[in-house]
Amino acid sequence: MSLFITFEGGDGSGKSTQIELVAKALRADGHEVVLGREPGGTPVGREIRRVLLHGEHLSGRTEALLFAADRSHHVDTHILPALKRGAIVLSDRYYDSSIAYQGAARSLGTEEVARLNAWATGGLVPDRTFYLDVSAEAGLERMRGEHDRLESEGVDFQRRVREQYRALIAAEPDRFVVIDGERPAEEIAADIYGGIARMLTP
Ligand code: ADP
Ligand code: TYD
Repeated sequence: MSLFITFEGGDGSGKSTQIELVAKALRADGHEVVLGREPGGTPVGREIRRVLLHGEHLSGRTEALLFAADRSHHVDTHILPALKRGAIVLSDRYYDSSIAYQGAARSLGTEEVARLNAWATGGLVPDRTFYLDVSAEAGLERMRGEHDRLESEGVDFQRRVREQYRALIAAEPDRFVVIDGERPAEEIAADIYGGIARMLTP
């Protein structure tokens, strides 16, 4: 049974840590698990990621289009083929990130960014989205020393990101699972693994 699961949250919320732990547990059960990440989950995406995060200053719209282009290619060449094989795909960020960061925090408009992304992804919606909830301050504290361009925006920017995630969760309470991300990593991973295991039992 294929599943498309995405992980969302602010910078430093623990998404990569959780994906690694949960993938290990699911693989131990014999599942094929395919990992994705945005931006930069494909060879073309890694070029786009370099331009986005370490290149010259970009306008908000250029940024939104590049994230959407990275995502479109990720869906076509990586996510959909894996889902067709029956794999479980765990993606570190997906379109909710663009709605929160570009749509809200960069004030481009959440509805327009949502429409752009629906087109870019051909309408592929995750089966479930785990939102790792960590305060803006705690996330930034964890990220100290490894800031890239978006992560350097500071605490107000991260607060706007978090507020928009809350609005997305309120609008789609069945797709999202909110996880308190300020607990030990193993405890969080056990909750997420349990949630996915329940989806796999008929
Ligand atoms: P993200 O992928 O969301 O940016 P990471 O998984 O890379 O987050 O984690 C960011 C930092 O926080 C890393 O240094 C990681 O070791 C640490 N970290 C991850 N999960 C936890 C946790 N539950 N408690 C404390 N620190 C954590
Ligand atoms: P990511 O590599 O996930 O960083 P982190 O592991 O620190 O969360 O994402 C890099 C940055 O890009 C991060 O600040 C979030 C931002 N981003 C957007 O602004 N829009 C998007 O659509 C995506 C996928 C990421």
